[in-house]
Parts: sequence; C-alpha cells; structure tokens
Amino acid sequence: MLAGKKILLAVSGSIAAYKSALIVRLCIKEQAEVRIIMTESAKKFVTPTTLSTLSKHPVYSSFYKDNSEDWHNHVALGLWADLLIIAPASAHTLSKMAHGLCDNFLLSVFLSARCPVYFAPAMDLDMLAHSATQKNIDLLVSRGNHLITSDVGELASGLNGKGRMAAPETIVNILREHFKTGIFSNKKVLITSGPTYETFDSVRFIGNHSSGKMGYALALLFAKKGAQVVFISGPVKNYPKHPHIEVIKVTSADEMLETCKNQYLDINFAIFAAAVADYKPSMPFDKKHKKDGNPLNITLIENPDIAQELGKLKDETQIHVGFALETHDGEASAKEKIKRKNLNLIVLNSLEDPGVGFGQDTNKITIYDRFEKKFPFELKDKKEVAQDIVKIIQSYA
Ligand code: C5P
Repeated sequence: MLAGKKILLAVSGSIAAYKSALIVRLCIKEQAEVRIIMTESAKKFVTPTTLSTLSKHPVYSSFYKDNSEDWHNHVALGLWADLLIIAPASAHTLSKMAHGLCDNFLLSVFLSARCPVYFAPAMDLDMLAHSATQKNIDLLVSRGNHLITSDVGELASGLNGKGRMAAPETIVNILREHFKTGIFSNKKVLITSGPTYETFDSVRFIGNHSSGKMGYALALLFAKKGAQVVFISGPVKNYPKHPHIEVIKVTSADEMLETCKNQYLDINFAIFAAAVADYKPSMPFDKKHKKDGNPLNITLIENPDIAQELGKLKDETQIHVGFALETHDGEASAKEKIKRKNLNLIVLNSLEDPGVGFGQDTNKITIYDRFEKKFPFELKDKKEVAQDIVKIIQSYA
C-alpha cells in the first residue's frame, strides 16, 4: 500500500522520538520513500545516524548543509512529499505549528507543504490536557491537519494517563488507510444531520433531541478521505470544521428538503443521518400564542420524507444511505425502508440496546444492503461507527 509513496517524517523533541525509528523501518519495509526532518531537541532522544541509516538518506535539520552556505530547499521538500507526518509532535512544536511560527526547518516545511499533514502528539498527560494544547490541536484540525490521537498508558514521567504517542504500527496503519482512500477523492457527499425544528408559533417549535454527532463524525471522515462534503444540518451545538466541508444550516424539514434538492445535482453519495421531524403543525401561529385556560389542539401534518424524495431523483451511479432508529421490529422496518426510500444501504440502531440513542457518544449498528445482506457491529464510539459505515459504503462504491 505504501510502495512508492513519498513520506516526509518530521521528528520533534519528545521521548517518543525513539519510536520514530520503527515508523521509518515499517515504511521502508513497504517500499515507501522516506525523508526525515529532525528538530535540534529531537536529536537528544534519537540519533540522526539511526534515522538516516534506516531511511537510507541524510536527515534534514537546519536550513544549511553542514554549516555551509548551501541551503536545503524547504519548499521543494514540502512539494516532494505525498504526505507529511509529525511524529512525535511535542507540545512546543504543536503550538508553533498552530500559530504559524517558523523558527526551524521543520516549521518551514510544515508551512510550505501542500500535501496532507498528520501529527501524532506525545507529551505528559497534564501538558496534553492543558486547554492551551487542546486549543492548538483544535486549531490544527480545523485547518485540515489530521490528528493521530495519543494513547493512554505509562508515561516517561512515571505518571499514567493519555499522552503516549500512538504505537508505530497504528501510525503506519493510518498512513496505509490514507493511501487506500483514493476512492473518495473528488467525490461529492451530501450529508443530512441533526434534528429539524418545526415552528409552532413565533417563539416555539416541535423538535427532538438529536445531537448530530453521527453526521458530524461521518462528515469529518469523508472529508479526511478526500471527499467534498455538503453538510446540511438542523440546529445543533457543534458543526464540523474542515476545508472540504461546506456547512449549510437549516431549521425545518421543508427547508432541509429544499436545500438537499438544490445541492443534489452532482452528488455521488447521499447519507441521510438527520433525525427529521415526521410531523409539523399545520397552521403555525404568527405571534406567540397566549394561554387562555383552555386545552389547545394542534393539528400536525406529515413532513416530506427527504430520503424518499431524493430517492426518486437517484440514478444507478449514486449511492444513498439511510438510518433507522427503532424501538421494536428493527430488522423488518429497515428492510421496508431500504426499498421505499430507494436506498443502497440502511444503518439500523435499536433503542433496545444500551448505549444507543440521541446524545450518546456510542452506537451499536447493523447495516443492511438491498439484498438483505446483514453486517452487525459491536457497541462502539460514534467515530469508530462512522469508520465501519464508510468501509461498507466503500465496498459498494
Ligand atoms: O422513516 P424514518 O424516519 O424511520 O426513516 C429514517 C431515515 O429516513 C433516516 O435516514 C432519515 O434521515 C430519513 N428521513 C428523511 N426525512 C424524513 C424522515 C426520515 O430524510 N422526513
């Protein structure tokens, strides 16, 4: 998978720097071309000779070769790479990357690289947990850099917690996945997400508790895999940020349908993760409705079914994925909906399972295809669930 790929590995000063030798070895074993950048402090933890021997190429550290006037071209190196990975990324290097500082060779390459950038933080647990570091990580991720999350375990300080650099095998797996994802580059993905709010009067609405976390995780994953994502979301707390994600905020089901139709033209994949309100008040009041001591009867009428409406526009090349959140008869409902809504795949979550439902960070899903093939999964974090869903979509694309 990595054969012939040009990987630029930047090593900064953390005890985890010794593990970078293993990353190089694993990449070289798969016939990747590897070049190494080291900060001065990284050299205290692993020698340049180790890394140059393993990568079969001199290590880059300063702007000038052997203290001569002959300079290393950081722009050329940034353009050469198919991928830049900073591993380990120390708290200091992270913060400089986040704020655009450029006082060493690593940072100048980071700023001039046009390729995807991954970074694997490694530091003591309190340094990682500090709001300054977390803000820096968020900033880097919001600009499209890919975070390789740190592991939990024993740290060099003797403390135990989150901060260890991800294992070299994990890192190399992520790089492999990255190069496997060509299938989504230049593809356009429409995702509906979050709840819809249906106006009752000028200050009230009927809605539901959807947090939009599943749609959020899917949008980021597709974007990281190179897709252009149109994210059409009802009102939620957090919207995904990524250069490949266009967020369109809507409120009601009617508005969501209208926006989906306008965006649908050149869509390759449509994922209907929104918890669209099935009903809306037939005659919303213009002003705030005042109570008058009498019971209030509101007539609710059905909202349009967005997945079903877009299913009518779908051609053979487009892939539609729907969700079904059921309290009972899940399998039968999923099979009925996949046909009625002209979906290729449906993701069923059953509210009977613990850890499943609105606002939860976890989900337990079963995916069905049109031929009733079934893919059951364990209870997992929604980010991992998104990976399972995307893997299945990938195999049907
Ligand atoms: O019929 P039900 O609401 O269970 O179907 C769920 C699936 O259909 C989800 O993918 C949801 O996003 C989509 N849906 C929709 N428009 C609706 C209702 C549901 O797109 N009005």
